[in-house]
Amino acid sequence: MTDTFAQDVLKGLTAKNKYISSMYFYDDNGSRIFQEIMNMPEYYPTNAEFEIFSMQSKQIFEALQFSGPFNIVELGSGDGFKTFKLLEFLVNNNVDFHYIPIDISQQAVDMLTVSLKERLPNLKIHPKVGDYFEILKANKASDYQSLLLFLGGNIGNYVQEKVDQLLQLFNENMKTGDKLLVGIDIKKNPIIIHSAYYDKHGITKRFNLNLLVRINRELDADFKIDDFDFYCHYNPITGDLKSYIVSLRKQVVEIKALNQIIEFDYNELIWTELSKKYSLEDISSLAKNSKFNLNKNFLDCKHYFVDSMWEK
Ligand code: AVJ
Repeated sequence: MTDTFAQDVLKGLTAKNKYISSMYFYDDNGSRIFQEIMNMPEYYPTNAEFEIFSMQSKQIFEALQFSGPFNIVELGSGDGFKTFKLLEFLVNNNVDFHYIPIDISQQAVDMLTVSLKERLPNLKIHPKVGDYFEILKANKASDYQSLLLFLGGNIGNYVQEKVDQLLQLFNENMKTGDKLLVGIDIKKNPIIIHSAYYDKHGITKRFNLNLLVRINRELDADFKIDDFDFYCHYNPITGDLKSYIVSLRKQVVEIKALNQIIEFDYNELIWTELSKKYSLEDISSLAKNSKFNLNKNFLDCKHYFVDSMWEK
């Protein structure tokens, strides 16, 4: 784990345009800061998706049109806050299904399992820790039909080429008639989007700068956190929301574990994250290009976010 982190940091910070992948945000500290982000009033995706599952679980279930028992496989279940409403609806209506949450964090999966067993004692839950591929492959071999969940707008973190690869991986590991419910943040008034990331309390800034804290700790570096700032920019045409760390001085940082000195110019950037927004038309083409049929879009009342149901 630390090895790939070290390699990726080396590669990203020695590139002409410096970058670090947003997947490294989520160490224990970063996961806690992300919880704070989800609780901010400005960060609308969490509330919007929670509303969709609170109000439309019945419609989502009806759209599945499965004839027998089925599996719900959640990719990157995290704390499972949003999914709870759907699971609750199904359990209360005696629907026969198995819930298989998957996450890379053992801690996250354990916490989710304990809390679900307490809140929904009749739920059949089979948590898995590991990478999507192996688990999806095993699931394809099952006799049951499956609903794959990829929620929270996580798809927005992938650049076009990676989105295509990921959706192809999902598609290859689904059976005909299986469904994918993918949570996607929609293009909207740019001010609303910008405020969700450029928050006035600096929580998203702390989330980004935690990357440097993590490099200091895990790779024995000497980043002076106060000498860096955060900036993000939304392009309402492309839908790209991009986040950056900004060097506030010309400075030199030593990363001992990499045997490396990194130089920063005054105002030099490290690109940290893409949080892409899609229009409903963009979503139709995305589904089509990855060989899915779009069955139905489930939107919140403000039309800020969509859970889009696709069929193989
Ligand atoms: C969890 C990837 C959906 O991109 O909106 C929140 C992470 N970054 N604020 C997003 C995030 C800054 C979030 N995702």
